[in-house]
Amino acid sequence: MSNNLNNIYSVELTQTQFDKLSKFIYDEYGIKLPPVKKIMLQSRLHKRLKELNFKTFEEYLTYVFSPNGMDKEVVHMMDVVSTNKTDFFREPAHFEYISEVLLPKFKTTHSFSNPVKIWSSASSSGEEAYTIAMVLSEFLSCNASYDYSILGTDISTKVLKMAINAVYDMERVKDMPMTLKKKYLLRSKDAEKPKVRIVPELRKKVQFQRLNLMDKTYAVDSYFDIIFCRNVLIYLDK
Ligand SMILES: C[S@@+](CC[C@H](N)C(=O)[O-])C[C@H]1O[C@@H](n2cnc3c(N)ncnc32)[C@H](O)[C@@H]1O
Repeated sequence: MSNNLNNIYSVELTQTQFDKLSKFIYDEYGIKLPPVKKIMLQSRLHKRLKELNFKTFEEYLTYVFSPNGMDKEVVHMMDVVSTNKTDFFREPAHFEYISEVLLPKFKTTHSFSNPVKIWSSASSSGEEAYTIAMVLSEFLSCNASYDYSILGTDISTKVLKMAINAVYDMERVKDMPMTLKKKYLLRSKDAEKPKVRIVPELRKKVQFQRLNLMDKTYAVDSYFDIIFCRNVLIYLDK
């Protein structure tokens, strides 16, 4: 490792700097960073210092809190601060409930011209939204005739890009039933780095956009039939 990198990795985030950043992140994004998260924040932000060629956190904070930094850096800072753990068919009981209880009810209320609208409000890298799409597609293939659309939103642009791309390591889908894999996933030809991509028929049903759940108003439709807020409300007080 070069001297330069050594310097950057040893740069310390002071308690005052941590307090200033964690207050800002809490006020703007609702994410609580208790004192025990100081080392975690320091190590995640080292990447940003390195990319921006800053030698100290003082320089970094001056930039973040400048008008230019507010405009350009906060988005990247939130990419490293947010916790994005997710999975296909995570907490499967929710999807069973939708399929067995909610989707049958929509038969009388929805149609092709009045689609079921679903919002995955902290969609991370898209696994939740595409799982919902698979569940809907499975249900509609033999049970009903209505259309659907899914909106996925998140504060992290990094995970939103992954969601839009819809390419996942094969490992991430290993527990998915084979019938669903065959229908809804395309396999890459690269044997060394096996990947899958969600099929275009499902991708076109799902849109993604950046949205902060702490905002006072949301730039999304005002009506949804189902809203997923899974594993995000736990981070937010409001
Ligand atoms: C742990 S993941 C949960 C993903 C998915 N809902 C699931 O249950 O598998 C939490 C997501 O919430 C997002 N998040 C955190 N605070 C947010 C906020 N204020 N507005 C929008 N998204 C937020 C994070 O970026 C992260 O991707």
